[in-house]
Amino acid sequence: MVLVHSTPVLTGLVTFLSVPWTTAASVIPFAEHAQVALGGSSDPSLELPQTNHPISSEDNADILTRPSWFTSTLMARRLLALSTSGVISTIFPDPLPPSDHAPASVAGLPVGLREYIADCDGALPAELSHGGNGDPTVLALRVGSTFKNIAAGSNLSLQVDWWDHLSDAGPVYPGLPPSLAALPRVTLFGYLDTLPSPLPGDAAAALEKCFVEAHPDSKVWLPGTPGSPHASFWARLVVTQAYWIGGFGDVQQIGWFNVTEWKGIRRHGSVPGVGDGRGWEDVRLPGEKEK
Ligand SMILES: *[C@@H]1O[C@H](CO)[C@@H](O)[C@H](O)[C@H]1NC(C)=O
Ligand SMILES: *[C@@H]1O[C@H](CO)[C@@H](O)[C@H](O)[C@H]1NC(C)=O
Repeated sequence: MVLVHSTPVLTGLVTFLSVPWTTAASVIPFAEHAQVALGGSSDPSLELPQTNHPISSEDNADILTRPSWFTSTLMARRLLALSTSGVISTIFPDPLPPSDHAPASVAGLPVGLREYIADCDGALPAELSHGGNGDPTVLALRVGSTFKNIAAGSNLSLQVDWWDHLSDAGPVYPGLPPSLAALPRVTLFGYLDTLPSPLPGDAAAALEKCFVEAHPDSKVWLPGTPGSPHASFWARLVVTQAYWIGGFGDVQQIGWFNVTEWKGIRRHGSVPGVGDGRGWEDVRLPGEKEK
């Protein structure tokens, strides 16, 4: 048995599990997972799982340093910029409109559906753009439940995560095997801002080019495409709050971002008064290759 700093692991789990969290269900699988990973014991004196790769104290010093909040905000902005889809949560109207095919019992219930997004704010002309502040561009389908609910007045949030990168990320926590729970996720709150239709000048072509780079298939249902199977429109999510779970609480930050910093970050650098000169291009997510 190789003993590697048992305290950080325990603190991490405790911190993680005690974070006030509205969807308790998302914590439960982790708790179960953690019990297995840590030998099925809930005894606070438990030992760490056996590992063939003992982590030296030098590695520990490195891995156990929590990034600053600003660095975490850069990571989250990078995560959003690299994400081409995310789960948008909305609420079914109550009562449902008579024309709706959904069962009456889902009225008022939340529904999370994965939608296409892309980091295309920078492709918009200056008078429409939010200056590359990270507000994601959304290709909205009028027929989709997400957008019907929003049209009926629902609030929304968007969740993106780095969980598809488990195999690249490797062990991100001393003593644990590769762990999804250790990988970052961010939930953005805000509202959907419908972009003008038609977009002025060359804006439509520029936005389409950017979006189709992220989603070649979406070419078929871009707004105004002749023969498109579904009516669509361009929108953007204007972010007003952002909640971050960087991973385990003692090696990553967990909590609400400073929205001034969130909005002030650019790909390269940030607006005056925010940050330390870095932009989201200057950080890497777990398992990403360095520049
Ligand atoms: C949406 O959220 C705002 C607060 O941001 C609240 O005032 C409003 O009542 C909410 N709308 C619905 C339909 O729940
Ligand atoms: C948010 O960040 C800005 C810019 O760094 C700073 O001026 C402000 O005090 C921060 N707000 C809070 C509540 O920390």
